[in-house]
Amino acid sequence: MEKYNSLVIVGAQWGDEGKGKMTDYFAQKADVVVRFSGGDNAGHVINFNGEKHKVTLVPSGIFNKKTTNVIGNGCVINLRNLINEISIIEKQSKEYGNLIISNKAHILMPYHIEIDKAIEEERKSLKIGTTKKGIGPAYSDKISRMGIRLCDIARPDFKSELEVAYNYNVKFLKRMFDINFKISLEEIYNELQECYLILKHRITDCEIFVENAIKDNKNVLFEGAQGALLDIDHGTYPYVTSSNTSANNASIGTGISHKLIQKTLGIVKAYCTRVGEGPFPSELNNEIGENIRRVGNEYGSNTGRPRRVGWFDAVALKHAIRTSGLDSIFITLLDVLTGIDNINICVGYEHNGTKNSNMPANARDLAECTPIYVSTPGWKQDITKVNSFVELPDEAKNYIKLIEKICEIKVDGFSVGPDRKQTILYEEFF
Ligand code: GDP
Ligand code: IMO
Ligand code: MG
Repeated sequence: MEKYNSLVIVGAQWGDEGKGKMTDYFAQKADVVVRFSGGDNAGHVINFNGEKHKVTLVPSGIFNKKTTNVIGNGCVINLRNLINEISIIEKQSKEYGNLIISNKAHILMPYHIEIDKAIEEERKSLKIGTTKKGIGPAYSDKISRMGIRLCDIARPDFKSELEVAYNYNVKFLKRMFDINFKISLEEIYNELQECYLILKHRITDCEIFVENAIKDNKNVLFEGAQGALLDIDHGTYPYVTSSNTSANNASIGTGISHKLIQKTLGIVKAYCTRVGEGPFPSELNNEIGENIRRVGNEYGSNTGRPRRVGWFDAVALKHAIRTSGLDSIFITLLDVLTGIDNINICVGYEHNGTKNSNMPANARDLAECTPIYVSTPGWKQDITKVNSFVELPDEAKNYIKLIEKICEIKVDGFSVGPDRKQTILYEEFF
């Protein structure tokens, strides 16, 4: 099989597909792992050698000693949370790699968190169900050119720039929501200076580092956050996050040419989950859904919220394949479906009497869609110790083949448990 030295890994559903686990798996062979979007709204759980770790901002390649991990310019960073996360990793891990941070990454401020909560309240029944980490307002400030970046802090005239952004946000809170923001400009300034001093040795021109790594034939892995259907442009808007989560953002969120990226792998669960509000045509509000939630431990690793559970949605995956340019997919959590008599795959939507094989653009239209299913028999045998495709029960083999056929995409492998070792990749390509 052809080998690639630049690989993008993205979630191809609504997040929590096991991207962290898969990034950690491929990172064993990576020289560089770059996170290119999102903030600490993400939560990735990684298991190996009996250890269990969780990362939110730090790339999931961090547990490999020889890997340099990069937080790219496309991310928004809560500096204090990042510092705390680094110190937990340094305390709890036997070994970990280096971490550098793009000087163009934006800083997520305390006022962004306050505004996130206020906007959610304002939306009432139409709330998004955000993680309340301030992600939307931080990206809004970036686009409004009111953002503060890491490269700004070191300048002697930084305070005047911060003052403009601070006053704008404080006025916004007061005038829009009658909220008196309690943290002073001075306190924010001092906190930023303190955080900057702690992180200073990591902050650099990451785009040049990553480009050189690819050109030197090093193995470079790009790690997406969230999932393709939470993409601000191509997801189920407005029930999305505030960044481009699709694979195409790997180049912009890192600062390298898209021409340097060789392969794009989508991670999918063997079923679907979604946290927060928004349309979910194949959602299971029944005992099967509850069982999948229990067996798959489907609770947000970040907010602890129960994840909504549904059947595998091939229409949604085809949309992700198109909008992210996926070359192939990897199926996680296959073990969770063990014991289900018949497994459904959503192959189309019916809306107002019309059959659709594409996702409608409007979230309300999508919410009105009824899923059209094909059904395939399930399996009863424990598959958590399976090491190859041939060892799977025939029904599980057929399920994977059916996904491949319906979605017209190659499956590169599957996983049967949370541990690094429970990962079955058919052929090495990285
Ligand atoms: P991410 O955000 O895409 O990195 O995914 P999360 O870490 O939020 O959620 C995926 C969850 O599924 C984590 O708790 C993983 O440990 C777990 N997981 C990953 N792969 C498998 C698998 O094949 N089987 C089972 N049972 N759990 C898995
Ligand atoms: P990982 O990387 C699942 C969801 C939130 C909410 C919407 C907007 O672990 O897959 P935000 O706080 O980003 O403004 O919330 O997006 N969301 C996620 N859902 N996994 C994630 O990350 C998510 N990050 C955000 O639940 O519906
Ligand atoms: Mg997650």
